[in-house]
Amino acid sequence: MASRLTQARNRVVDRMVNAPRDTDERALRRAVAGKTVLVTGASFGLGEATARTLARHGAIVLAVARTAERLDELVAAIEAEGGKAYAYPADLSDFDSIGPLADKMIAEHGGIDIVINNAGKSMRRSLDLQYDRFHDFTRMVNVNYLGPVRLLLAVLPHMRERGSGQIVNVSTIGVRIPPGPRWGVYQSTKGAFDIWLRSIAPEIKVDGIDVSTIYMTLIYTRMSAPTPSMRKLPGMSAKEASGLVTRAIIGREREITPWWVTPAQATDAVARGAVTWGMGILHRNSSDTASARGEAVR
Ligand SMILES: NC(=O)c1ccc[n+]([C@@H]2O[C@H](COP(=O)([O-])OP(=O)(O)OC[C@H]3O[C@@H](n4cnc5c(N)ncnc54)[C@H](OP(=O)(O)O)[C@@H]3O)[C@@H](O)[C@H]2O)c1
Repeated sequence: MASRLTQARNRVVDRMVNAPRDTDERALRRAVAGKTVLVTGASFGLGEATARTLARHGAIVLAVARTAERLDELVAAIEAEGGKAYAYPADLSDFDSIGPLADKMIAEHGGIDIVINNAGKSMRRSLDLQYDRFHDFTRMVNVNYLGPVRLLLAVLPHMRERGSGQIVNVSTIGVRIPPGPRWGVYQSTKGAFDIWLRSIAPEIKVDGIDVSTIYMTLIYTRMSAPTPSMRKLPGMSAKEASGLVTRAIIGREREITPWWVTPAQATDAVARGAVTWGMGILHRNSSDTASARGEAVR
């Protein structure tokens, strides 16, 4: 067990690095009890932790991801605690199946109140390794951008007709700070969805739908696990990070961003040359992981 000193140090680092979370149980229950919440990427990591928390506070969770067995286990665990959840196994990059999936969920539950756009794929790989890997780009754009767009195109008309709803997007800090080497395909695909969603936000706000974007910092999940250097950086557990999703739901905030993003953006604006030079040094002094060198992306 960590000593008190270690715990205190971890708390300070957490406050310095991550945006504050909201764990007000009563406020969360008021915000989600009886609401139908669609969580994409609910089979692992942040999506799974979020689904569990929301169900525990009375939400009816619609869990979407590819790994059906994991969704079944999640539903069973939620039901065992007296909550309500339904599994909808689906591949978000199978665009033709998403419209019918959304129609099915809406028909079976009478509508969707909140969408947590959480499913995603990350990739850290040098350009040198990508000349023969155009499929890296198509796979990532499909799951991080086009799949979520396809889903919202199917869900939003119904939400707008009902005159209420919320879209919570789990984005990454990488789309707000100066882009780092090796993360190009991940950051650009997450950035594309972020910009699209922010563009449509004023159009759907008039129909009572709020958009909240979380610019997420490091979470220790299977996504960050293949990059050993990440383990040395301060991050959150999936459960801790779910406190940012619940904060977005409770406060319906437009964005959740750690404080240090603004100085990072300002530095990039006034000294892009120096920032690019620094990124070059970072690139030369780091390397691709074993998985980036060979492993297929699932
Ligand atoms: N981990 C971090 O450090 C970090 C930092 C910033 C932002 N984020 C963002 O946080 C979100 C959650 O990431 P995580 O760390 O929890 O990763 P994770 O543990 O790998 O979970 C990703 C989830 O997305 C689902 N998914 C992936 N491809 C899919 C597809 N084609 N169709 C449907 N579902 C799919 C996965 O389920 P299946 O494999 O079962 O389909 C899984 O449930 C992502 O959007 C990520 O970009 C993460």
